[in-house]
Amino acid sequence: MTKLHGNNFNTLGIETSCDETAVAVYHSSRGLLSHVVHSQVAVHADYGGVVPELASRDHIRKLLPLIQQALCEAAIERADGVAYTAGPGLVGALMVGASVGRSLALAWNVPAVAVHHMEGHLLAPMLEDEPPPFPFIALLVSGGHSMLVQVTGVGEYELLGETLDDAAGEAFDKTAKLLNLGYPGGPALARLAEEGRPDVHRFPRPMVDKPGLDFSFSGLKTAAMLAVRGADDTHQARADIARGFEDAVVETLSLKCRRAMRQTGAQRLVVAGGVGANRRLRAQLKAMAEADGGRVYYPRFEFCTDNGAMIAYAGSLRLQAGNVADTVIEARPRWSLEQLPSIDVA
Ligand code: KG4
Ligand code: ZN
Repeated sequence: MTKLHGNNFNTLGIETSCDETAVAVYHSSRGLLSHVVHSQVAVHADYGGVVPELASRDHIRKLLPLIQQALCEAAIERADGVAYTAGPGLVGALMVGASVGRSLALAWNVPAVAVHHMEGHLLAPMLEDEPPPFPFIALLVSGGHSMLVQVTGVGEYELLGETLDDAAGEAFDKTAKLLNLGYPGGPALARLAEEGRPDVHRFPRPMVDKPGLDFSFSGLKTAAMLAVRGADDTHQARADIARGFEDAVVETLSLKCRRAMRQTGAQRLVVAGGVGANRRLRAQLKAMAEADGGRVYYPRFEFCTDNGAMIAYAGSLRLQAGNVADTVIEARPRWSLEQLPSIDVA
């Protein structure tokens, strides 16, 4: 099966790398035709985090009905190509989407493409009305990753910095757990921080004094833990810690983004991944970029967190470029973004 030609084909996108089952249909010229998502929050809530085995089982239960729904909402019976998230992620969860996606492509006799989850996040702002032109710096902040990437084209990614320990979302989730906010903690912590006072806690801004563009969040998490232990058990005390923690993460990320933009001369910053839904982070990065004469681009809120639209979109570009493999099912729990082939997008 070779590449899809022309500008008139549908791509079915399937995302099952973690705890969201998501499906979308993207048309190469008409844009996004449908997108549906099922969150597994209720499945994992009692355990305080994602249980990989339960995630795989729930993807199996939900994926086919969601595919049917996405096709129906797009008013098509089959797609011209299939894109599925092949990694990075939980291997069992990835295998569900990969097996179903590849098999559908075989049955429909259409090409399938293995999509890199982080490339999906990185390209998600392209689905908006004013997509960012290349080149740009991308800040990718999710539950599993925190990285700064220099992007000069599709597949032209140079890693400028990454986390040395916890991902930004992971730090949000772990600190939220300390504050008894349940799972997933990031959005709940951000809500609590709204009620917190800004100057009660001044937590460390990890690694901002050192040169370079790597991050580290474990020290900040420990500082927050000590603050929780030493604080009164009141709502206000917990809100103050949430605010102090959020401010420290936001300021650290913002400083590193400014450094990356100045270092590379980039004028544009793309922010994607679940933590990119954080309102304070969005506001701070916007102010930072604009102060330097630059501009920041985000996906809409629902496409910051995991979704099928970004996979269908990235897959559509790669199908057009002929990045297809014959009948193999690809699931890569670890997969470097820099290994992806570059493609020419006309
Ligand atoms: O991209 P994503 O949906 O899944 C991964 O690929 O990991 O990101 C999920 C992460 C979680 O850690 C979640 O707590 C965090 O994004 N998150 C937030 C917010 N919304 C989601 N963190 C801070 N503030 C938010 N508003
Ligand atoms: Zn993600």
